[in-house]
Amino acid sequence: MKRGSIYYFSGTGNSYYTAKLLGEKLDLSVESIDIKNIPRGRQEYIGIVFPVYAFGPPNIVKKFMEKLEGLNGEYVFIVVTYGGQCGPTIDITEKLLKKSRIQLNYAGKVKFPDNYILSFKVPEESKQMRILEEADRKITLISKEVLKKYVKIEKEKFPFNLIPEKIHFWSASRFRKMGKELKADSRCNQCGLCVKNCPVNNIRLIDKKIIFGVVCELCLRCVHTCPKEAINYKNKTQGKKRYLNPKVYMD
Ligand SMILES: Cc1cc2nc3c(=O)[nH]c(=O)nc-3n(C[C@H](O)[C@H](O)[C@H](O)COP(=O)(O)O)c2cc1C
Ligand code: SF4
Ligand code: SF4
Repeated sequence: MKRGSIYYFSGTGNSYYTAKLLGEKLDLSVESIDIKNIPRGRQEYIGIVFPVYAFGPPNIVKKFMEKLEGLNGEYVFIVVTYGGQCGPTIDITEKLLKKSRIQLNYAGKVKFPDNYILSFKVPEESKQMRILEEADRKITLISKEVLKKYVKIEKEKFPFNLIPEKIHFWSASRFRKMGKELKADSRCNQCGLCVKNCPVNNIRLIDKKIIFGVVCELCLRCVHTCPKEAINYKNKTQGKKRYLNPKVYMD
């Protein structure tokens, strides 16, 4: 019998890897966030692991936390994965949990290769390896602190702690619209991988064409997993190296 659960959302595997490793180290079950199946009841440990999107939690994670009233944890922790800066992500999360009557006991952040290739480039392989090694060290430290039930909220550094929360909410309100701009080009061989792997079932294969729906989380899993690199966002991602966390396989 496990002592609790970790709920995670992940686009390219960094957060899944973090949740999986913490689950193993802490003997907690690891479950993908499912908005149609909100957990209830009492658990000793409750963890939530997710990536930072525009200085805040992904929309699906915010929705999940808003519905969590009815879940009771003796010790509640979050771990966020990020590529550059977290801004007010932890503050926003703490407030959302509070609205659901959940007191956050611990928040930690782990830096990973940045998957936001709409604006940036994935780091070179050697740099990726260094970041991943450092991530492992940080996850080990977090697991030890969580095991001992430390009460600790990791703070964002100056000046990124000054980024206003409204920047996140404005940016996140555009994600679904941006998702409509994802397109598969003629390199697509209709393998169906993107359809199978989209975490919110936003992709359909109809008449040999890939069609994107209206519930995109902008997780970029489809962009990074397409073996033909056929999925792109406007002219922002063409020819850019793709990234998937090399230590886990997401399906
Ligand atoms: C839509 C989007 C927005 C992002 N915004 C941020 C950000 O504001 N700050 C940051 O440090 N990383 C940002 N990232 C990078 C991810 O947080 C980071 O690569 C994370 O580890 C990805 O986790 P995953 O592999 O579990 O999806 C963003 C990524 C995406 C897809
Ligand atoms: S993963 Fe790529 S090649 Fe496969 S169906 Fe999707 S767009 Fe086409
Ligand atoms: S359509 Fe692509 S970017 Fe949008 S949620 Fe699905 S996998 Fe993620």
